[in-house]
Amino acid sequence: MKLYTCVFVLLSTLALINALDNGLGLTPQMGWNSWNYFACDINETLIRETALAMTKNGMQDAGYEYVNIDDCWAVSRDSNGVIQADPNAFPSGIAALADYVHSLGLKLGIYTDAGILTCQKRPGSYGYEAIDAKTYASWGIDYVKEDWCSTFLDNPVQRYTIMSEALNATGRPIFFSLCDWGVDNPWNWAPTIGNSWRTTPDIKDNWNSFISNLMAQVPIAGASGVGGWNDPDMLEVGNGGMTNTEYVSQFSLWSLMSAPLIAGNDLRNVDPDTLAILTNQEVIAINQDPMGKQGTLVRSTNDGYNQIWARPLSDGSRAVVLFNSSPNATNIELLWSDIWVPINTQLSVRDLWSQSDIGVFSTSYLAENIAPHASVMLRLSTSSKY
Ligand SMILES: *[C@@H]1O[C@H](CO)[C@@H](O)[C@H](O)[C@H]1NC(C)=O
Ligand SMILES: *[C@@H]1O[C@H](CO)[C@@H](O)[C@H](O)[C@H]1NC(C)=O
Ligand SMILES: *[C@@H]1O[C@H](CO)[C@@H](O)[C@H](O)[C@H]1NC(C)=O
Repeated sequence: MKLYTCVFVLLSTLALINALDNGLGLTPQMGWNSWNYFACDINETLIRETALAMTKNGMQDAGYEYVNIDDCWAVSRDSNGVIQADPNAFPSGIAALADYVHSLGLKLGIYTDAGILTCQKRPGSYGYEAIDAKTYASWGIDYVKEDWCSTFLDNPVQRYTIMSEALNATGRPIFFSLCDWGVDNPWNWAPTIGNSWRTTPDIKDNWNSFISNLMAQVPIAGASGVGGWNDPDMLEVGNGGMTNTEYVSQFSLWSLMSAPLIAGNDLRNVDPDTLAILTNQEVIAINQDPMGKQGTLVRSTNDGYNQIWARPLSDGSRAVVLFNSSPNATNIELLWSDIWVPINTQLSVRDLWSQSDIGVFSTSYLAENIAPHASVMLRLSTSSKY
């Protein structure tokens, strides 16, 4: 093992020591969430149909595991303070839904808020953390996303710690996803509290929102690691506001950045192109690499439009995204110095979208005529040591 590989392994180990100790999030979480496409229009039929679809359309086989209900499932508390699901939308109750999702080999996630009310004005968990955590555990919940609406001037470290400890006290391993939209620099304090933390405002299904959430990850890439992940928000792949070329770029870059891969489209009716993006196993393998090293922007040219993103992988190879963020087609040249490899090293280059070997190169690789907003995603490896 060369020195830099040792350093990466050491850093990953340190990250684990500094992570929440619930055994979860050893790789970025993969799943689906109701918000991006359905917002408040959710019910148990939708959740059941989505979970079933995931078992049949290749999503489960590709690694997607969590089926996450977002805001709007809860309506009130009973006289003991126990949170109640909307009886019209979830007449069978959340426990029955969890049983069904578990019977398919999937896991169920739920949503709450650290404040008095959720963002859609449903009851929040403020002051009810212990009872909510117990309720979720009794229902068989596997994942909790906690939002940050109606918190006024509350201290996020204290508030999220209360829920983190309440979840721990249930004895059930529950993935804890913090969602304060990055406003309190959660990358500085969340790794010991949760398994992921939102780093940005909500993503929207458009190019500017995607680029804004993407670029916000660059200065904080070092905060992610085994056990806890920077979360630039969910995937918009398949939702129609961007082109498939742009969705390939979001999926490539989210995978490279160890971002959670949470699909946000209607999985009951998904076209083959969308499914091909979401289930590309070679791209997902980059996201799920056990080293857990978040990739980042290593170099850009042409006024920042031509971007080279890269990360090291646990087997010593490198993953690269050559991203043309400009409105015109372009060439982008990858240099071995961009990926911490000495020149005159023979590297075999594989294209992860065409899933084909391009050839062996020894100093650089030139990708020609990359379409506007498109990404070329590569894996570069050598059989000899370098
Ligand atoms: C609770 O925290 C302790 C100490 O960090 C840890 O060992 C244990 O696995 C956690 N349990 C759960 C269910 O998260
Ligand atoms: C459940 O929600 C889906 C998605 O919004 C909707 O199409 C469907 O009509 C709803 N079903 C029921 C029974 O309310
Ligand atoms: C794209 O091409 C047009 C037309 O040639 C040119 O005016 C524009 O400056 C180019 N934009 C970038 C970002 O290169």
